[in-house]
Amino acid sequence: MELSSVKSMAELWKTDVHHFESLGSTNTSLVADAGSGLPAGTVYVADFQTAGRGRRDRTWEAPPKSSLLCSVLLRPTIQLAEAHLATIAMALSARAAVGSATGLTPMLKWPNDLLFNDAKFGGILAEVAAPFADRPGELALVVGIGINLTFSGPPESVATSLLKATGATIDRDGFLSLLLEELGPRQSQLNTAEGRADLLGEYESVLSTLGREVRVELTDSMVTGQAKSIGPSGELGVEIDGVVRFFHAGDVVHLRPTM
Ligand code: BTN
Repeated sequence: MELSSVKSMAELWKTDVHHFESLGSTNTSLVADAGSGLPAGTVYVADFQTAGRGRRDRTWEAPPKSSLLCSVLLRPTIQLAEAHLATIAMALSARAAVGSATGLTPMLKWPNDLLFNDAKFGGILAEVAAPFADRPGELALVVGIGINLTFSGPPESVATSLLKATGATIDRDGFLSLLLEELGPRQSQLNTAEGRADLLGEYESVLSTLGREVRVELTDSMVTGQAKSIGPSGELGVEIDGVVRFFHAGDVVHLRPTM
């Protein structure tokens, strides 16, 4: 699809941003409230989270007003198995918004970490808020994102902030507007087969993981191989001993670049 058509579909994207001084987790609150019929484009943003959550049951911590901590409600017409595409839409939007705000383009590491110089400053957690029993087939997804603006992560972590990595002092609300502007056309792309193919094409063209030697860490095992491709639902194809195996979840460590 022409980018201009995608952009015009973005005109349908209306956002409604709710600010909170403190919440347990913007994701938890928005998942709980989504059932009362909130529209797609509802955004919860908090200055502080008392129980911020990361992927794989980890915590996500940030001192007050040091980060963008927000969650966006999407209602794409995709299957539950394709929910990862919504995190891809968010990751690409965040990458572009960081590029506009700082003049520097970050790396994307599968599944959806944002990095500068191999240090993480942003992560994404998508959760299913519906299908509801009374409205079968209606998928509601809450896509949460944390971006370290001035906080460089807990002392023991290999993390960074936009301030440390780029020198840029970023206004949170201005950055959120940029992010939502970038997300508009990409969330529209989720609703058509052509749009999803374009989204995956953009992802494959910028994902730093592809072509790299990687270690995939699963709940109780790990494997190493060469990251080769992205499957139709955003899964990572890794060649291990000559066979490509697809991973839908897990943590990836970039080992060394392949020559
Ligand atoms: C990860 O990389 O593990 C994902 C981190 C996601 C953190 C964000 S902060 C806003 C939203 N609310 C949460 O509790 N988590 C997400």
